Formats: sequence, structure tokens, C-alpha cells
Amino acid sequence: MTDIATLERDVLVAIDTAADEAAVEDVRIAALGKSGSISALLKTLGGMTPDERKEKGPQINGLRDRVQGAIAARKEALGEAALEARLASERVDVSLPVQEGPEARGRIHPISQVIDEITAIFGDMGFAIAEGPDVETDDLNFTKLNFPVGHPAREMHDTFFFAPDANGERKLLRTHTSPVQVRTMLAEAPPIRVICPGRTYRNDSDQTHTPMFHQVEGLVIDKSAHLGHLKWILEEFCKSFFEIDDVKMRFRPSFFPFTEPSMEVDIQCSRKGGEIRFGEGDDWLEILGCGMVHPNVLRNCGLDPEVYQGFAWGMGIDRIAMLKYGMPDLRPFFEADVRWLSHYGFRPLDLPTLTAGLSS
Ligand code: DAH
Repeated sequence: MTDIATLERDVLVAIDTAADEAAVEDVRIAALGKSGSISALLKTLGGMTPDERKEKGPQINGLRDRVQGAIAARKEALGEAALEARLASERVDVSLPVQEGPEARGRIHPISQVIDEITAIFGDMGFAIAEGPDVETDDLNFTKLNFPVGHPAREMHDTFFFAPDANGERKLLRTHTSPVQVRTMLAEAPPIRVICPGRTYRNDSDQTHTPMFHQVEGLVIDKSAHLGHLKWILEEFCKSFFEIDDVKMRFRPSFFPFTEPSMEVDIQCSRKGGEIRFGEGDDWLEILGCGMVHPNVLRNCGLDPEVYQGFAWGMGIDRIAMLKYGMPDLRPFFEADVRWLSHYGFRPLDLPTLTAGLSS
């Protein structure tokens, strides 16, 4: 009898002091499990005389029932306490303003935006996109573009060269996107209408030059492409890109080894109050180089200049981005400063299209 009372007290104390549901479960196993203390008592009933069983049976069974009841009650209390604690720690204040998700906070870099704008404009005119590698051969960057070996125009490009490889070939970081013209003419038969946006490299650094920058090249080759077409394309591009109704352009004679004749193009602007505005004023700003593709370049690319002709142009993407969006210094473009990006960047889901607006 004392045994049973002591055991009951001990087990009930253990149940009451169990800190969590797992500890209660340990007590249950120790008492009511296969080799638990109360299970052992229950087993003794089988070996008792009927009289003994009559006396002890209700005591032992009563003990088991009370312990089972205490365990169930403790488990429920602990479960409720755990739920309360969780609810308290995970409480949300539904009156707080919703935090913006990454898709709303992220920003598209102005260079990516401007490339998308350029692609939308020329895509609408029927141009395809062509790409080439940043690491280029001397042959494609210079020789095939009619820069003879030793020609001073090569020096003007401030080229980054790699160390010569096992065959003595010296690769370079392309100094312009013009090698993509050559790659396109070598790979495709005319008529050709492509633009080639991409990274370019020159050893130069100041407020408006960085060693890595971006250009977009344009190339049209067929049997009758002429400068009138080029002029129309560039005018339409400038109107769309700068989002103005009319633009005056000035074509000045210039020199590039890969075009003949070669020209530089200025667009009309005003610089009143230090701010550049397009489509008005009587000042000029240079924005690109262009010309008729040189017969030597056509020949170098396997095209017969007696049959095919065409024009090309090259434009600095960073420069027109700075002009359009009023960013005075090029260097922060490549400093990966999120404060600059959140100021000058574009919302990711506003894709530039001609119909919905380029830079809304
Ligand atoms: N590749 C020239 C440069 O980087 C730009 C250029 C001028 C490209 C005239 C052309 C062109 O395609 O016709 O300075």
C-alpha cells in the first residue's frame, strides 16, 4: 500500500515538474511503458490469489487511471502554453504597411535600360541583334576592318592586349563593336540588317571615359543600301530615343579605316543654363561615327563590292545614356553603388516599347 502511494506521489511530481511535452512523454514511458513501474505492478495481478486481486486490483488500476489522467492533463496544458508562446512570438500587426518585395525594390541599370530601348527601336525597324566575344583577335578587331598592320589608327585605340599564346597570337579586348560587323558578314549572306550592342575596352579613364564602356554598331548590306537610308534611320532613331518630335542632324566628313566616305554625326541641341536639350537650339553635339562600308572590308568578308554595298555606324551607349538621363559622370555607372542605382535605375517590369513608351 505504501509502495503504491509513494509511487503515485513520485510519478505525479515528475508529471507536474516536466518542462515540456517530451519530458511528460518520458515520465509516461517510465511509468506506463512496456517496462514501466506501474506496468510492472499491473503484471503482478496475474500471480495473485483471487482475494489479493480483489483488494489490490482496484488500487493498482486506480493508480494507472489517475496517472494516465494526470499525464493527459499536463500534456494538454503544456501544448496550450506552447501554442500561446508561438502565437505571441509570431504575431503580425496587420495594420503595418506592406513591405515592398524585391521585384518592386530592384532597379534596372541605365545601361541595360538604354540597350533595351535601342533594341526596341531598331527591332521595330526590322533589325536583328548580333553579338560577338569581348576577347577578340587582332585580325577581326583591326586587320579585316582595313587597319593595315602598323597603321597609326591602331595606336589611337589604346588597346588592351593579352600576352601572346603558344602560336604567338596576341588576343585583345575588343576596342569597338565593329568586329561584330565582320563576324556577321562572314557568317551570313546579304541582305544584312543588324545592330550589335556590347562591351568594349580602351585604356582610358576620366569623367566621360571608363576602361570598359559600351557601344552599339549598326550594319546594313544589300545591293542598293545608300547614305539616304542611313540618314533616315539615324534621324528616326534619334527622334525615338530622345523622345522628341523633330531633330536636325549634321553630317561632317571624318575618317575611319573601315568606311569610305566616313562621317561624324552631330545632333542639334541647346545648352541653355548648362542643361543639354535636344530638338531645339543652335548648338551641336557629336553622337556617332558612320559611313559606307569600305570595299576592302567587303572583300575581306568574302563579299563582292561590285555587287554589294552598305553602310555602318557606331555609337557610344554610355554617352547617349548620360545625355538622355542627365548623368554627368560615367564612373559611377560601374561602381555598383545601390544608392546611385536606386536613384538612376529603372523599374524592372516597365519594359521599354515603342507603343507603351521607352522610358516611362
Ligand atoms: N568603331 C568606331 C569607333 O569605335 C565607331 C564607328 C565609326 C563604327 C564608323 C562604325 C562606323 O561602324 O561606320 O570609334
